[in-house]
Amino acid sequence: MLQNYVQYNPEKIIFGKGTECQVGQEVARYSKTCLLHYDGGDYINPLLDRIRQSLKDAGVTFYELGGVEPNPRLTLVRKGIEMVKEHNIGFVLAVGGGSTMDSAKFISVGTYYDGDIWNHGRFAPIHTPIIPKGVVLTLPGTGSEVSTSAVIRNDEVDPEIKNCFFAEEFRFDFAIINPELTYTLPPSQTAAGAYDIISHSMEDYFTSTEDAEYLWGVCETVINSVMKNVQIALKDPTNYTARANICRVAYVPLEDIMDRGTQYNFCVHNIEKPVTGTYHSTHGKILAIMMPAWMKYCYKTNIPLFMRLCVNCFGAKPDYDHPEKTIMEGIRNLEHFTHDIGLPTRLSEIGIDDSKFEYLADLAVWGDRENGYVGQVTKMKFEDIIEIYKLAL
Ligand code: NZQ
Ligand code: ZN
Repeated sequence: MLQNYVQYNPEKIIFGKGTECQVGQEVARYSKTCLLHYDGGDYINPLLDRIRQSLKDAGVTFYELGGVEPNPRLTLVRKGIEMVKEHNIGFVLAVGGGSTMDSAKFISVGTYYDGDIWNHGRFAPIHTPIIPKGVVLTLPGTGSEVSTSAVIRNDEVDPEIKNCFFAEEFRFDFAIINPELTYTLPPSQTAAGAYDIISHSMEDYFTSTEDAEYLWGVCETVINSVMKNVQIALKDPTNYTARANICRVAYVPLEDIMDRGTQYNFCVHNIEKPVTGTYHSTHGKILAIMMPAWMKYCYKTNIPLFMRLCVNCFGAKPDYDHPEKTIMEGIRNLEHFTHDIGLPTRLSEIGIDDSKFEYLADLAVWGDRENGYVGQVTKMKFEDIIEIYKLAL
């Protein structure tokens, strides 16, 4: 039965060709001073020039902080917070993918936070003032452009810890999404972003809510669209239709629409996070390894639903007398697709062995220490996570 729910999607999405040139006027609605925050790649230079011009044209003074790394660092967030305070900056503008977006979110929320933002409760609301923020997106996948979450790596502790925080205050005020900006993505990032979208859909799909037809239908559409369009984009990187369709569905699983009224699972991300945090790997790449391992371990929790997904999205032929056969065929097909788009399906393919499994499983449970397990539906404890890591080896 659908649960009671609140739906709230305040972000303004500005989508399409050339839209980054509107950024100055959007920022100016909030402030005449801005922190321009980005990563360090060469791809970004022509884009930054257009953004600087747009800010200048709108009379916005800006300060710059580049250098965001994948799995963004807390120390750079602290530097951003200092800059915002020193120059009394009134807006934070992210230009980049999930890491830059989350770093900007932490600066926005952390600047006037009463205490150290890292120590804030993962699910606690924030009661101190925040700085408005926006993004010009360059990498579709994380859905951070509409999400209420921010993932940060604490590089001030040894070993480092990556953690995910949730609060309404992490929402952007606007997101500019021009699919043309994704033409320069290397194939590995295109594929990793696409897999992230698939995994977000699957984290929602395996709900404990019965008859969640809307959720299941939208998830299947998102997954099928991404699987089709990522293959086109990899062959033809400047294919606007394929890039636009990926950008269009990327944020759907993170919006307050698809999953409202249903119990989400969100399990595999918590099993993935310690691995990317520890090995500094790519989010979507590790998800591509963990998702089939988790499916193999958990499919018995809801055989009809696993079978439905494997048939409707992963090309398995339905065998109603032997549903497990159908599910295994679907998982195999998903793994073939994963290899076809250039991603690994085993940890050993990327040189990770079992030496840290206990440490990683400990960290996964620590990340959700309020519960002592990860996943709201498939509740995986320490021993289960170890088994999933073994299946991923
Ligand atoms: O700096 P270079 O080497 O050029 O590489 C950049 C970037 O560092 C490259 N890139 C981005 N846009 C490009 C481009 N290269 C060429 N052309 C472009 N248009 O891609 C590198 C990786 O970017 P990053 O932002 O790290 O990737 P992604 O968007 O996958 O973000 C991953 C982070 O987001 C978190 C992940 O945990 C991870 O830390 N997530 C955040 C979520 C949220 N806040 O809601 C949800 C997600 O599930 C996820 O956990
Ligand atoms: Zn993700």
